[in-house]
Amino acid sequence: MSRVALVTGGSRGIGAAISTALKDSGYTVAATYAGNDDAAAQFTENTGIKTYKWNVADYEASKSGIEKVEAELGPIDVVVANAGITRDAPFHKMTPDQWNEVIGTNLTGVFNTIHPIWPGMRERKFGRIVVISSINGQKGQFAQVNYAATKAGDLGIVKSLAQEGARSNITANAICPGYIATDMVMAVPEKVRESIISQIPTGRLGEPEEIARAVVFLVNDEAGFINGSTITANGAQHLV
Ligand code: CAA
Repeated sequence: MSRVALVTGGSRGIGAAISTALKDSGYTVAATYAGNDDAAAQFTENTGIKTYKWNVADYEASKSGIEKVEAELGPIDVVVANAGITRDAPFHKMTPDQWNEVIGTNLTGVFNTIHPIWPGMRERKFGRIVVISSINGQKGQFAQVNYAATKAGDLGIVKSLAQEGARSNITANAICPGYIATDMVMAVPEKVRESIISQIPTGRLGEPEEIARAVVFLVNDEAGFINGSTITANGAQHLV
């Protein structure tokens, strides 16, 4: 029986590449999405990967969605907390709504995704958790006080979970992508994007598949000693 993997925000962008790479590596994948029904339907048609709709910011919706996935596909052994949004604004213009939306999806959403799955992982004595953080959680970013706070928070989550899960053969690791060619980065004004690319020694944006490759590595059954780590994948833009 292949292991079941849940990828939040798994039908678009980096998440879609992760879902596809996991499927290609033999996992049974459930990809969640929040709102874009057409993109999700298209994704399922193209890949055969099942999609499930819920808002990761809502604990009860996450819990019942996860129960549905487990009833249909089996216990979830691999979680990739990838769903994320931006509401960029310089701090003096940032509204409480912009703050709360990003905290709800990017940070509380990670708790809501992992928490209902955690007891089963502990019982089965196996789990692989990957949280998709960001270069901007490591270095901060103009106009991203909200987003950078959540992505730095991700690193605290995985370092703590790594210690709690270790004795149950559960690992938790973070990946910090740099600027990747997705809708999120394409939404940045072109001039700003060009200036960002000029700061990337590799000389280009990353590809979603280059992040998916790191996920497949971390969730492998044989990766049990890689726990609490942060993998940076940013074309050498920011080295920590
Ligand atoms: N550093 C320093 N100053 C900057 C700056 C930067 N990176 N970006 C903008 N500024 C300056 C502007 O030049 C402007 O200066 P002046 O007032 O002297 O002209 C000032 O800050 C404020 O500009 P605006 O009033 O025009 O700002 P705005 O309210 O229109 O907001 C913005 C514009 C939201 C900041 C827009 O420039 C933007 O989206 N910037 C990109 C932010 C960014 O990099 N986000 C990352 C998204 S990708 C992602 O998040 C994925 C990931 O994990 C990597």
